[in-house]
Amino acid sequence: MGLKNTSSEFGSMAKWLHWLITIGLVVIFYIGLEQAGMERGPEKSEMRVIHGSIALLVFVLMTVRLIWRFMNEVPGHPDGMPALQRVAATLVHWAIYVAVFAQLISGPVTIATGGGAISFFGLFSFSLPVEESEEVHHFWEEVHEFSWKIVAAIVVLHILGALYNHFVAKNDVLRRMTTGVKQGN
Ligand code: HEM
Ligand code: HEM
Repeated sequence: MGLKNTSSEFGSMAKWLHWLITIGLVVIFYIGLEQAGMERGPEKSEMRVIHGSIALLVFVLMTVRLIWRFMNEVPGHPDGMPALQRVAATLVHWAIYVAVFAQLISGPVTIATGGGAISFFGLFSFSLPVEESEEVHHFWEEVHEFSWKIVAAIVVLHILGALYNHFVAKNDVLRRMTTGVKQGN
């Protein structure tokens, strides 16, 4: 398996990025929800910094992934896949990119409009060129606290789609993002 995608399979680079980002998102979700239930204090702030810092790493990986996607061919849908499913799969993939980036952007903007700096594991921090405003801060906070549900819903659909393809349609869709397509196909 090469680094680049082929017309029938994802290459190792796309696979690594896909699964690293998946692990990253699970951790971000877990820490985000965990800190939401905590009392205000240094521990909660620390959890938020870890949450945001891992998310910043995912931001970099998502950007690399998007660029890599445009530099590569994307494996076509399997032969015989109904038109509606092809459209649904493509729509879900693009919806994931939009929703995840919306989440990745609303987090730092919430902090910045609240007058805070964005810290990367406490190693360094940076500000965003946005004005501090109570009203705007609340708006972005609401966005961030709501849009993760959209990310979660789309990803669940995506996982169900992958399982449907593997176990019901019995095609190579799951294998081409994991172990590789069966030889001879
Ligand atoms: C894909 C990326 C992200 C996901 C899935 C995510 C998810 C979440 C979730 C589930 C919560 C809890 C929401 C609630 O209280 O109901 C949260 C809160 C928070 N996140 Fe994120 N987040 C992401 C990216 C970021 C980034 C990049 C930052 C900042 C660098 C960030 C900063 C925060 C902050 C400050 C809160 C607390 C908001 C508040 O309740 O005031 N997040 N996030
Ligand atoms: C257990 C969880 C997951 C499974 C089983 C899974 C499975 C798959 C499979 C089989 C493909 C290939 C689809 C095809 O060839 O048409 C794929 C592609 C894709 N997956 Fe996932 N996935 C999971 C989690 C995620 C998560 C958390 C994200 C969020 C970033 C994601 C985003 C994507 C995107 C955008 C594509 C399209 C290909 C690309 O642009 O790189 N997946 N996934």
